[in-house]
Amino acid sequence: MATALSVPSSFFLLVILSNFFIPHLATNDTTPLVFILGDSTADVGTNNHLNQSDIKANFPHNGIDFPHSRSTGRFSNGFNSADYLAKLFGLRRSPPPFLSLLTLEPHHFRKHLFKGVNFASAGSGLLDTTGSNLTVVALSEQITQLTTVRDNFTAMIGSNATEAMLSEALFFISIGSNDIFGYFANKSTMPKEKFISTLISTYSAHITTLYGLGARKFGIISVPPIGCCPSQRLVQKIITGKDDCFNSTNDFAQTFYSALDNLLHNITSQLPGIKYSLGNSFKMTMDVIANATLYEFTNVKAACCGHGDLKAQGPCNQTASLCPDRREYLFWDLFHPTKKASDLAAETLYSGTTDYVSPINFSQLPYDN
Ligand SMILES: *[C@@H]1O[C@H](CO)[C@@H](O)[C@H](O)[C@H]1NC(C)=O
Ligand SMILES: *[C@@H]1O[C@H](CO)[C@@H](O)[C@H](O)[C@H]1NC(C)=O
Ligand SMILES: *[C@@H]1O[C@H](CO)[C@@H](O)[C@H](O)[C@H]1NC(C)=O
Ligand SMILES: *[C@@H]1O[C@H](CO)[C@@H](O)[C@H](O)[C@H]1NC(C)=O
Ligand SMILES: *[C@@H]1O[C@H](CO)[C@@H](O)[C@H](O)[C@H]1NC(C)=O
Ligand SMILES: *[C@@H]1O[C@H](CO)[C@@H](O)[C@H](O)[C@H]1NC(C)=O
Ligand SMILES: *[C@@H]1O[C@H](CO)[C@@H](O)[C@H](O)[C@H]1NC(C)=O
Ligand SMILES: *[C@@H]1O[C@H](CO)[C@@H](O)[C@H](O)[C@H]1NC(C)=O
Ligand SMILES: *[C@@H]1O[C@H](CO)[C@@H](O)[C@H](O)[C@H]1NC(C)=O
Ligand SMILES: *[C@@H]1O[C@H](CO)[C@@H](O)[C@H](O)[C@H]1NC(C)=O
Ligand SMILES: *[C@@H]1O[C@H](CO)[C@@H](O)[C@H](O)[C@H]1NC(C)=O
Repeated sequence: MATALSVPSSFFLLVILSNFFIPHLATNDTTPLVFILGDSTADVGTNNHLNQSDIKANFPHNGIDFPHSRSTGRFSNGFNSADYLAKLFGLRRSPPPFLSLLTLEPHHFRKHLFKGVNFASAGSGLLDTTGSNLTVVALSEQITQLTTVRDNFTAMIGSNATEAMLSEALFFISIGSNDIFGYFANKSTMPKEKFISTLISTYSAHITTLYGLGARKFGIISVPPIGCCPSQRLVQKIITGKDDCFNSTNDFAQTFYSALDNLLHNITSQLPGIKYSLGNSFKMTMDVIANATLYEFTNVKAACCGHGDLKAQGPCNQTASLCPDRREYLFWDLFHPTKKASDLAAETLYSGTTDYVSPINFSQLPYDN
């Protein structure tokens, strides 16, 4: 009787431990724990859970090239850059949205945390005011959600193990575009330098908070040339009659990159042990646009899915028209890249040269110097 009891109890303990650890280890011994924060470029369904928000993509034709043609909430015909980055690090796709995990039973919720979490919410920005009228999850609130995840790790494995685990985890952040869009939508009169420096000091505060929570390895994706997306080309076309990139927003995006590069250089001396990789999505995307045929795109101006001129007069929804070949388009809808463009961006972040990602590329983040 005594042995019969002792066997099941140690067996039970093993089961508990493996329930905690297998999800993380089973994929691949070298698979890091991944956390993703940001906006629609990285959202994998967060906003589906926001009843009050209209910023959603959980309907066709979104997801037409996703496994089983599912509309998951991604603003893409298939996977987005968060998924492709996660895949490059050995995961199946991006970890699930925090808000979808919250719908699980508490013990399932906790078990899933070991596979990583995606907090990104479409429409959000660095500033709490960006998207506040859209009821999305601002970056500061995403970080609050990460704090509850950390508390749950601590409750499960203790604070030392949590600290060790988070220090090895990868934190990907893709944000800033919506703040710049907001500046222009608001017809703000704040001088450009002042606005950019507000964004940068806010970014600095967020990174410092994440560092305080134990994050050490950051993969940061800067703002792409948002002036070249179909919606902004349409704005330019209305002004000049030509569907060129809208230079003002691009100018802000480029200045933002330089300032962010500068900030990250500085921050390494203030936050010991921090390691980062900064992706220059501005240059990456401009080079693709300038050499479209080399990257096998035939259309880098119009959306593949949408309504009207440049398919940028209405969103990608069920009544929108689709381009004939989705692999030939840079843009999926009026704001977002196609699956192919997202794959290309992730590949460049992961293994690109210092022209595109510096001081190291994302593939080097998991390793110690
Ligand atoms: C959102 O709506 C769903 C379904 O209508 C409901 O179950 C859920 O409680 C709502 N969530 C919030 C936060 O209001
Ligand atoms: C683990 O992932 C790495 C990087 O993706 C890969 O090189 C390696 O072959 C994988 N190992 C196994 C056992 O799957
Ligand atoms: C835009 O205007 C709204 C409403 O006045 C304000 O709440 C928000 O902070 C502004 N956003 C930016 C990015 O300036
Ligand atoms: C764990 O997560 C749940 C759900 O978000 C939260 O309510 C709780 O406060 C968290 N913290 C701990 C210590 O369990
Ligand atoms: C946690 O780490 C600290 C400092 O390294 C150590 O003093 C302490 O004993 C550890 N606690 C546990 C529970 O291992
Ligand atoms: C939210 O604010 C932005 C910037 O002022 C504006 O362009 C947008 O139309 C507003 N959206 C809603 C749903 O009120
Ligand atoms: C926009 O920028 C491009 C590249 O810097 C330049 O060639 C073009 O003349 C600019 N267009 C306008 C309308 O300022
Ligand atoms: C970085 O440090 C330099 C030199 O100390 C300083 O001039 C600059 O303002 C700093 N930039 C940021 C963004 O913190
Ligand atoms: C593409 O075009 C840019 C100019 O924007 C050029 O500097 C770059 O080297 C070109 N080549 C590739 C492979 O992107
Ligand atoms: C799709 O978008 C168009 C253009 O904005 C709109 O007129 C139409 O009502 C939308 N259709 C659906 C099913 O939401
Ligand atoms: C980037 O990544 C690749 C593959 O992971 C690596 O071999 C290469 O040295 C890195 N390139 C640079 C310029 O750091």
